[in-house]
Formats: sequence, structure tokens, C-alpha cells
Amino acid sequence: MSITNLGDSRKVTTSSLLEKKANHQLIASLTAYDYASARLVDESGVDIILVGDSLAQVMLGYENTVPVTMEEMLHHTRAVRRGVKRALLVADMPYSSYHISCKDALINATRFVKEAGAEAVKIEGGAKRYELISKIVDAEIPVMGHIGLTPQSVHVMGGYKVQGKTLAAAEQLMKDATALEEAGAFAIVLEGIPREVAAMITAEVAVPTIGIGAGPECDGQILVYHDLLGLSFGSPAKFVRRYADAGSLIRDALTAYQHDVEEGRYPSDAESYHLPKDTAAELEAIRQRKHVMELRHEKRR
Ligand code: KIV
Repeated sequence: MSITNLGDSRKVTTSSLLEKKANHQLIASLTAYDYASARLVDESGVDIILVGDSLAQVMLGYENTVPVTMEEMLHHTRAVRRGVKRALLVADMPYSSYHISCKDALINATRFVKEAGAEAVKIEGGAKRYELISKIVDAEIPVMGHIGLTPQSVHVMGGYKVQGKTLAAAEQLMKDATALEEAGAFAIVLEGIPREVAAMITAEVAVPTIGIGAGPECDGQILVYHDLLGLSFGSPAKFVRRYADAGSLIRDALTAYQHDVEEGRYPSDAESYHLPKDTAAELEAIRQRKHVMELRHEKRR
């Protein structure tokens, strides 16, 4: 089979994503955090699967993404790796894994590729990450940038607020995006920024922009798996579109199970294993003989 007729089953790579932008084809991305979600997401046909550090909140129950560790991220990336065949697998570098030194960043980025099977890493921050990103790209690891509302900077931003709302801030975002492109990033996540600013950046850079709360002009979109399926707690952000209410579905199923057990409806005979008929008959005969002997014993007392 030639590469041209592999069609939709073609493995997604950083180059095929660039081609998509050049051909004005939109890129669908989602997060996944374990084997089961990875299989479902991959089979849906999305281009990029991100093991986002949002797993800190949606999987591990932390307040924000700051506490999640390299070991936790590696653990989840390995599980996702086992479920992904087609999509490009990107791992999020957690807070402090690239903030201390370039050397640390290189060691941690290579761990994602070597120990967990990621095909690329994502790093938050713009122009100030230029040197760091160039070095990781030089080490043969594709890097996805991430600017705008960068959740690892929650304490600096003073909460999760839309970024780039002033002229100066919008200009800075444009500089950040071009710096990331020059550093060699293969794509840039634009999070929580005005649609107009995202549209300008998208028109300016040659690499795909992947939006989350950045409007429809981006080259692609990404959402958190739990938000899309209605599995997250609390009220969703304005940009989240819930495609299912899986939370209610699961809650109803769990309550029905609990009631069935308490009221003796589960398991039924059809859900039970049985002895072969002759073994069951022998067992019954033994039980009856034992019962008769017990009765005789009692009479003698
Ligand atoms: O951690 C995450 O899930 C993310 C995206 C949603 C972009 O960074």
C-alpha cells in the first residue's frame, strides 16, 4: 500500500500537522490520561492526544496544576501510550520540570520520550522559553508551545483570567508566538485569549495554533476529556462545549447497582456460575446425609 492511499488511518506526525495547516484543514485535539480514555480518544480520529497536566485536577484532585510531579506525569503518559496508535502523543512538562535549568528540562523532556513513549512535549511560556525550547528541539524532541492563560503561572496571574486583553498584552502574545516558532516549536496552544488576538497570531505564524478558549480562527482546538464528556466537577468555563453528560449516566448506573445489591436483585441466576448437574446432585446427596446424621446425633443426646 502506498503512503498516499493510507487515508485517514495515517499516523499523525508533526509534519502532517504542518501540512494540515498549509491545506487549511482543521486539527482536532483532546487530552487523555489513562489507557481507556486514550483508546476511545484515539479511535475517535483526533490528531493530537495531550497528556495534559490538567490531570492534576481532573484525575488526582489537586487544586491546580502546580503540584503534579514528573513521576505522576510519566505514569499517566505510559498508560496513554499503550492506548494510542494513530494520534500524535504529546506529554505536558509539569511545573518545575523545566523552570530550574536547561539541563533539568532536557533530562525531563528526554524521560517523556524514552521512558513513557511520548512523541513530543508541551511547555508553557513564550519568548522567555526561546533558549530552552531550541535546546530540546536540538535534542530531537518536538516541542509544542503554550501561551496566553498558562495554568502553571496561576499565582503570577492571580487566578485563571483571560490574557491579552490590552494592546500591549496582545502585542506581547504576538512576540511570544513568533519567538516560539523561531525556537522550533511545531505547534502553539493559545489558551484563554480574545478571538481577535488568536486570529492575528494564527495568520502570522506558519505552525498550527491550537486553541482552547481562543475562538474559532485557530488552526485547531483542544479540550479536556472530562469537560467535553461532562465528567468534571464545578461549572465549566465559557468555551467548554459538553458533548455528553457522562457524569449523570455514571451516577445513575452506580445508584442502580447499589439498589440492586441491597434489594437482592443482583446477581441473578443468569449471572451466576453453576456446577455440572451430576456434581450438583452428589453435593445435594452429601448435604442431606449430613443433615440426617445430625438429626440422629441430636436425638441420642
Ligand atoms: O493540561 C492541559 O490539559 C492543557 C490543555 C488543555 C491545553 O494544557
